[in-house]
Amino acid sequence: MDEIARRPLGRTGLLVSEICLGTSPLASMPELYGYAVDDARAEATIEAALASPVNFIDTSNNYGGGSAETRIGHVLRRHGGLPDGVVLATKVDADRETRDFSGDRVKRSAEESLSRLGLDRIQLMYLHDPEFYLTFDEAMAPGGPVAALRDLRDAGVVEHIGLAAGDVPLMRQLVATDEFDVVLNHNRFTLVDRSAEPLIDDAVRRGVAFVNAAPYGGGILSKGPGARSTYGYRDADGVVLERVRLMQAACERHGVPLAAAALQLSLREPRVTSTVVGVSSPERIAETVALARLSLPVELWDELADLTPPAEHWLT
Ligand SMILES: NC(=O)c1ccc[n+]([C@@H]2O[C@H](COP(=O)([O-])OP(=O)(O)OC[C@H]3O[C@@H](n4cnc5c(N)ncnc54)[C@H](OP(=O)(O)O)[C@@H]3O)[C@@H](O)[C@H]2O)c1
Repeated sequence: MDEIARRPLGRTGLLVSEICLGTSPLASMPELYGYAVDDARAEATIEAALASPVNFIDTSNNYGGGSAETRIGHVLRRHGGLPDGVVLATKVDADRETRDFSGDRVKRSAEESLSRLGLDRIQLMYLHDPEFYLTFDEAMAPGGPVAALRDLRDAGVVEHIGLAAGDVPLMRQLVATDEFDVVLNHNRFTLVDRSAEPLIDDAVRRGVAFVNAAPYGGGILSKGPGARSTYGYRDADGVVLERVRLMQAACERHGVPLAAAALQLSLREPRVTSTVVGVSSPERIAETVALARLSLPVELWDELADLTPPAEHWLT
C-alpha cells in the first residue's frame, strides 16, 4: 500500500496521517447511514486501519451509544493497548437523555470513554457538538464543560483538548478563546459546501490544527446521489443534489470516481491537517488510500469549482 503523508497536529507535538479513520459508520447507526454494521466487521475495519499507514482514529462517547468505543476497545485490548505511533481521539458528550453537559457530565463522559477503550489516558479529547446543548457562555462558565476538560488535562488524563462540531459561528467564538489545540469541523469543507472557510482561517492563524471530517457529506459524494440523497445527515438541498449529479457526470467523463475528487479536495488543501473518512469495512482502508493517490486531470478541478453550489445552499 502506498504511503500517505504524516503531518504535525498543530502545536500538540503529535504526528498524524493526512487520512484519519472516522468511526461513526462502524458504530452501526442505520438511522444515519442506512445500514447496520456488526461487531466482527467493525473490528476487522479497525484492525485494517492499524495495519495501514493510517495512524489517526476518531471516535466519540456517543457513536452508537458507545458501541464505536467498545469495538475499538476490544481491538486495543488484543494489541495490549494503543499501538506505538497511533493517535486516538475521542469526544466528551452530553448525556443524551437528560441533556446534561455540565462539567460533572464531561468528567463522567471521559471516564466512560476510557473504560470502554481500556486506556487510562487519551491523547486528544474533543468537546463534541456543543451547539445542540450549550451557549458560548455556558460552555465557558467556571466549573463548566471547558473548565472540566482543562481539569482533566491538568490531571494528565487528557493530553490535548479539541473542539469538534458543525456550527461555524459558535466554533469561531470558542476557537478565539485559545483553549483548544485542535478543531474538527464536518461537512462544511467539501465539493458542495465551503462554509468552514472562516473557521479554517481562524484556526490556522492561531496555530490550531484544523481537521476536516466527512469529505463525502456522509456518503452522497462517495456512494453517489443514486445511492444516497442526504447531505450532512439531512435531506440534501435540491440544488446540492443536482450539483452532485453534475459533478458525478463530470468525473465519469474523465473516467475517475467522484469519491476521489471529494477526498482529494480536502487532502490537497494545505490548511487541513487531516481528513476524517468514515468507513465500515476493512477493504475500504486500501480503497481510501487508492482514492487519495489517484491522479486526477487538472481540468476536472475547474469543472468542479464551476459546479460548487452558491453559499445560500451550504449548511448553516
Ligand atoms: N461532530 C463531529 O465531531 C463529527 C461529525 C461528523 C463526522 N465526524 C467524524 O468524521 C467521520 C466522517 O464522517 P462520516 O463518516 O459521517 O461521513 P463521510 O466520511 O463523509 O462518509 C462516510 C460514508 O462514505 C462511505 N464511503 C467511504 N469510503 C467509501 C468508498 N471508497 N466507496 C463508497 N463509499 C464509501 C461510507 O460507507 P461504508 O460504511 O460502506 O464504508 C459511509 O457511508 C465520522 O465517522 C466521525 O468520525 C465527526
